[in-house]
Amino acid sequence: MKYVHVRWKHDRAEEPSHLWYEVAVDKFQNRTLELYADGSAGFAIRGSAEDGSDDLEVGGTRNSTEGFPDVEEINADRQFEASEVTAAEFEHPWRKVLAARPRMTSLLTIAIDGPAGAGKGTLARRLADHYRLNLLDTGLTYRAVAHALLQVGLPLDNVSAAETAARQVDLAKLDRAVLSAHAVGEAASKVAVFPTVRRILVEKQRDFARTPPGAVLDGRDIGTVVCPDADIKLYVTASAEVRAKRRLAEIESIGGTAKFTEILADIVRRDERDMGRADSPLKPAADAHLLDTSEMAIEAAFLAAMAIIDDALARRNKA
Ligand code: DC
Repeated sequence: MKYVHVRWKHDRAEEPSHLWYEVAVDKFQNRTLELYADGSAGFAIRGSAEDGSDDLEVGGTRNSTEGFPDVEEINADRQFEASEVTAAEFEHPWRKVLAARPRMTSLLTIAIDGPAGAGKGTLARRLADHYRLNLLDTGLTYRAVAHALLQVGLPLDNVSAAETAARQVDLAKLDRAVLSAHAVGEAASKVAVFPTVRRILVEKQRDFARTPPGAVLDGRDIGTVVCPDADIKLYVTASAEVRAKRRLAEIESIGGTAKFTEILADIVRRDERDMGRADSPLKPAADAHLLDTSEMAIEAAFLAAMAIIDDALARRNKA
């Protein structure tokens, strides 16, 4: 038995949205298709190919998809994205999440800002999953510029090289594994002070935010500069000591070693640079909800953020 999660984008001119269908194939153990006002849709089925193998092609020419006209029809001019999931995943998340998901009639933008190590990345990922939105860690875009300069040995204050690198940043190709190195983060904070580099990256980030069904973006200036009209703005913070402790635990959990005092000094220095720069300094937007995670586990932060967002959505839907 194979469990497959299939989705495809379906642009409909009359709706500013993509339709996201989810299909997993069994001999069409179909479940009700749920269609939401934001254009997302979901249904799930599971199955195996006719020949009993797990070699299942959804929407292809195999027998296993015969009798599934919706898929064939819609697939005529579309590309599927199919990914295998576990039985437990199949049983649990999507339908429940979709069922719980509020109705959305237009783009939704959630802006998350905060200093390094406050937990905004994890929170952003959880929220994007839950609300089924696109996700962009904007820090990666600054990291990509810094990485490009470091790779060819150019100084980080070479503004024209940084601009060229910024133009070449492809949001679909940001490689977290390469870019997450500590030194790249430090360097990113340095190239991020240049206004022209910021303008180029901000334009790309705005384009991303405008892509249906909307996005969660995290960074330093999302609520203030990139998406000042975001539906929900969160400012996630934690004391420098707590952030340094978390960072140390992270390093140790993958077998590394580091000195607490050095990590703390790095964090304080990075805060000063990110908060003190002239262009787009890190600060909470006037209408941001503050979330201090110093004494909070990620799950609690997620629940608190969800309560804020659900409340804002309920008000938006009433308006
Ligand atoms: O979130 P991060 O550690 O990946 O970010 C790396 C650096 O990039 C950060 O120190 C400052 C800069 N940055 C920025 O200036 N604006 C953003 N929206 C995101 C990151």
